[in-house]
Amino acid sequence: MKEPSARLRVTSRVKWESVLNIFLQPSLVRSALIGLIRKAHLGSYKFRLKIGAVERPHYGYIVYNAARLAQKLNHKRMSVLEFGVAGGRGLLNLEYHVRQIEALVPIKIDIYGFDTGEGLPRPVDYRDLPYHWKEGFFKMDIPELRSKLNFAKLVLGNVDVTAERFFAEHEPAPIGAVIHDFDFYSSTAMALKLFDENEKYFLPRIYCYFDDTVGDETSLYNDYTGQRLAIHEFNQAHESKKLAVPYHLISRKSVESWYHQIFIYHDFKHRQYNEFISEENQQLPI
Ligand SMILES: C[S@@+](CC[C@H](N)C(=O)[O-])C[C@H]1O[C@@H](n2cnc3c(N)ncnc32)[C@H](O)[C@@H]1O
Repeated sequence: MKEPSARLRVTSRVKWESVLNIFLQPSLVRSALIGLIRKAHLGSYKFRLKIGAVERPHYGYIVYNAARLAQKLNHKRMSVLEFGVAGGRGLLNLEYHVRQIEALVPIKIDIYGFDTGEGLPRPVDYRDLPYHWKEGFFKMDIPELRSKLNFAKLVLGNVDVTAERFFAEHEPAPIGAVIHDFDFYSSTAMALKLFDENEKYFLPRIYCYFDDTVGDETSLYNDYTGQRLAIHEFNQAHESKKLAVPYHLISRKSVESWYHQIFIYHDFKHRQYNEFISEENQQLPI
């Protein structure tokens, strides 16, 4: 019998994987409904964010919750950072979420996107996963992206240089949410050094998303390399500052994989850490 062509084999493998994916979904009906609501923009932004029916729900989740915290702590302005911009899809998506959230929470939100502009630097060693990443991946078209951005600011250059100058150059409003998408251990570790700056630049608790912490059978992210190692070392090196697992998310009945990519930064000695922000009336009836 004649062997099927290579193209046919690839196409049938792709189809087979899509069929398999259907069965890996937690609830078919639920996922289909959420997809429909997202595509058709049904209901308010707040409703769609709540059920995850928005593009990049994790971006919306961290910005919305940071904005609410900032408001409770009486801030009028806050900042959101994205480490790793590449082509800029994430930054443009952030602008969308920020616009929607500014209409819900009385606070101004600034966005800063950090990137070399030239794609990934050379991996330093095995901790940067050179079996998965290569120098020059994700080069940015700077003029094209600038022409599309409305208000997000680009901070271009290697983060080991730009992070040092960032606070003096921009005097940012307190940072409430951070997206870490630098891919490498070395770059993420440098980005985390920002948390050593003066506490006036930060909320006492910061909603963080780490893109490269779940992955697949090729990336095989783990506790000993990549972003997870950077997080682990940060926690080891800081006694009163920790990146903590969001138990409130991962204990939900229906768990999305991005819940496992959220970490909450706590600065226990921050002057606003102990300010009461919860419900005033917590009296329970007998
Ligand atoms: C996966 S891409 C970011 C994708 C983007 N967040 C998105 O969702 O569209 C990773 C980016 O990190 C940047 N990067 C990695 N290490 C860096 C470093 N040390 N300094 C500045 N940028 C870095 C690379 O230039 C690359 O564009």
